[in-house]
Amino acid sequence: MIADADIDPSTGGTAPPKSTKGLAGVVAGSTALSSVGKEGRGLTYRGYRIEDLAKHSSFEEVSYLLLHGELPSPEKLHEYKKRLVEQRPLPTSLCEILERLPSDSHPMDVLRTACSSLGCLEPEQDQMQAAERMLAIFPSVVLYWYQFHQTGIRIDVRSVEDSIAGHFLDLLHGNRPTETHRRAMDMSLILYAEHEFNASTFTARICSSTLSDLYSAITAAIGTLRGPLHGGANEAAMELIERFETPDEAEAGIMQSLEQRKKIMGFGHRVYRECDPRSEIIQRIAKQLSDERGDTKLYPVSERIHAVMSREKKLFPNLDFYSASAYHFLGIPTALFTPIFVLSRTAGWAAHVFEQRADNRLIRPSAEYIGPEDREYPTNKKESTNG
Ligand code: COA
Repeated sequence: MIADADIDPSTGGTAPPKSTKGLAGVVAGSTALSSVGKEGRGLTYRGYRIEDLAKHSSFEEVSYLLLHGELPSPEKLHEYKKRLVEQRPLPTSLCEILERLPSDSHPMDVLRTACSSLGCLEPEQDQMQAAERMLAIFPSVVLYWYQFHQTGIRIDVRSVEDSIAGHFLDLLHGNRPTETHRRAMDMSLILYAEHEFNASTFTARICSSTLSDLYSAITAAIGTLRGPLHGGANEAAMELIERFETPDEAEAGIMQSLEQRKKIMGFGHRVYRECDPRSEIIQRIAKQLSDERGDTKLYPVSERIHAVMSREKKLFPNLDFYSASAYHFLGIPTALFTPIFVLSRTAGWAAHVFEQRADNRLIRPSAEYIGPEDREYPTNKKESTNG
């Protein structure tokens, strides 16, 4: 799709397409799944405000909304949750693959490999079934691999917890989470579920536009999410926050990094202008968990980094910044932060693949060529080939 600005009114035709670095500001297609609004303020999933969804819905309701188009009735929700619970177990050959992967692999690489392997073990027959299978099995994948390599135990991935949030925390800690922790995790999954044409979602759409299968699209999306400019920012933000013992130390460290023109992970956003609406919600959760833990270090350090970035760069925290401390207070190891993003965003990715498939055209942009023109092939090379 061409943005209005590219229509040349003087000719009535289209002006030569302008190239923009990183596709910033380019409208690359349409979607009915989510919107940040024309002004880059607020976030809605299928028209519902993120604040309402975080307050009143569960992640299962939200993922159903994304995949099916409407919030589920109580009966539909019950059936959906039952299907997800039933699909948690891992095939034996996938367990074997997870056991053979190195203990020091990054869990995002583990998930990417597991997703691709699942595509070999259970090739896509029905897109909705495949999407539900991935939503159900990914928490089992991450924690089976994690517990096997940390403790040597082959855990039972079944759990009495009927939500993905509860299932994840139960398998991680070996006991059922409190209601506060389950709800905090659930809300964070809701916030991460969907975000229009972000890099990983666009990757999934590009992959599916070639008529490839859902497992390939999600595998490609996981690889894209892994980088610190995208999903990997929550992990990088935690590493940054943990470097400082006090807010004053954090202020000095951030000032120094800014002087060196370093990027501070967890701040800034391509599409939001004034704030990331998800950040305020996760900040409240992080504060609540910090108070509950009697923390006097991590949250105050985070708040000071926030204040310095706002004062010095007019930059606001994105969802990843306070997610880092919230996950830390939930007892989640830092390396599992970005995989949690996958557990949730799989809903958005799959819904985008369905949408792409429903009105597909190969995604293949053009490039502005900046290399040398019409070069004469060296005569000595011609001779040496002929000789
Ligand atoms: N820390 C310091 N400076 C930042 C910054 C950050 N986190 N984010 C943006 N900036 C600055 C850039 O240095 C640049 O300044 P300059 O014009 O003086 O060179 C300006 O703001 C524009 O940044 P740019 O990287 O070109 O914006 P973008 O739209 O391409 O990138 C992000 C958006 C999200 C990739 C970028 O803000 C970033 O790298 N943030 C940190 C990683 C992160 O948190 N990612 C998760 C996103 S949800």
